[in-house]
Amino acid sequence: MTSPTAQRKDDHLRLALAQHDAVRLRDTDHVRFVHHALAGGSSSSVSLGSPAFGWPVPLYVTGMTGGSERAAEVNRGLGIVSRETGLPVAVGSMGIVLREPATLPTFTVLREENPDGFVLANTNANVSGTEAAQLVSALAADALQVHINAPQEVAMPEGDRAFDHWAEAIAEIVDSVEVPVIVKEVGAGLSRGTVAMLRDLGVGGVDVAGRGGTDFGAIESARRPAGERGYLAGWGQSAVTCLIEAGDLPGVGAARGAAGGVALLASGGVRNALDVVTLLALGADAVGVAGTFLQVLVSDGVDALVALVQGWLEEIADLMALLGARTVADLRSTDLLLTGPVREVAELRGVDVAAFARRSRWSQV
Ligand SMILES: Cc1cc2nc3c(=O)[nH]c(=O)nc-3n(C[C@H](O)[C@H](O)[C@H](O)COP(=O)(O)O)c2cc1C
Repeated sequence: MTSPTAQRKDDHLRLALAQHDAVRLRDTDHVRFVHHALAGGSSSSVSLGSPAFGWPVPLYVTGMTGGSERAAEVNRGLGIVSRETGLPVAVGSMGIVLREPATLPTFTVLREENPDGFVLANTNANVSGTEAAQLVSALAADALQVHINAPQEVAMPEGDRAFDHWAEAIAEIVDSVEVPVIVKEVGAGLSRGTVAMLRDLGVGGVDVAGRGGTDFGAIESARRPAGERGYLAGWGQSAVTCLIEAGDLPGVGAARGAAGGVALLASGGVRNALDVVTLLALGADAVGVAGTFLQVLVSDGVDALVALVQGWLEEIADLMALLGARTVADLRSTDLLLTGPVREVAELRGVDVAAFARRSRWSQV
């Protein structure tokens, strides 16, 4: 018998796949690089290492699933892909393991396929420090993602309705686990104030996980009998606008060499290597992908996803060479044109958009 939680995991996979839309415009489409025709370097000199957690590449698979047979198959595939490509990889929320211990193998299958890679556990913020440590240990995880997802919960028929304990819970989890804690949204973004608070709570990283890709407001509303609360679709900020407003916070962003700094990760709606490079240039230390990779894995299989990821890594190096960036940190000195709705949001949030357009030495003449 499938438990209600396992059924929800299958609903999420089904509805996220049905919702996937690579064509719709994203905020990354409103960010353009200024082209400097003599700025280019060479792809062979590019170092793809991420400033976050010593990751070999600035790309990772962010948390999706576990808890059902179908989810186990997805996690097996993601384990193989991450082993073959070197990408860090997360499982989906492991809270179900605390209530239904028999589901643990649907998560650990990923670790078994990738025994030496960087693997992230995942939980909500309703677990105790002891429980969080138990989940990390069960997966032999190298880091723990904690998702904070109030819009999803409000849209979800069986969702939580109390969120006022989350900051305290995160502090307890940070104290209790021995690996870095990375707090993330699930597609509605983290504001500058939220990132600052998480930094002060002692987290090792944040993933702004913004709107524009997988949309849990829409998914949870679709799980309701008459699609109620569909107005929560599209709630929040994109990764682009989150990075623009939080990227200069003191102590945030390992690329800026902050001592004991909080790694700044970004995800939400990433479709291709240019989206990745754009988010890196806006200040991300590494970029996460969920929906796009899930789509390829389920439609075309493991080998196709391995090839796609390898292709993206090559394209990221080529785009960095085009932009004259040898490292991920160098991308922060490229000139970016923030246009259209991105410019509008940035200005409303008090960001100096002109400064982004003149960051490079090519603009200092
Ligand atoms: C099928 C599916 C299930 C997900 N489940 C979780 C989860 O359990 N925990 C979590 O932190 N995020 C979860 N996410 C959210 C992703 O980590 C990510 O924040 C979001 O999908 C935006 O990225 P994308 O646009 O690349 O899909 C899930 C995403 C998908 C597609």
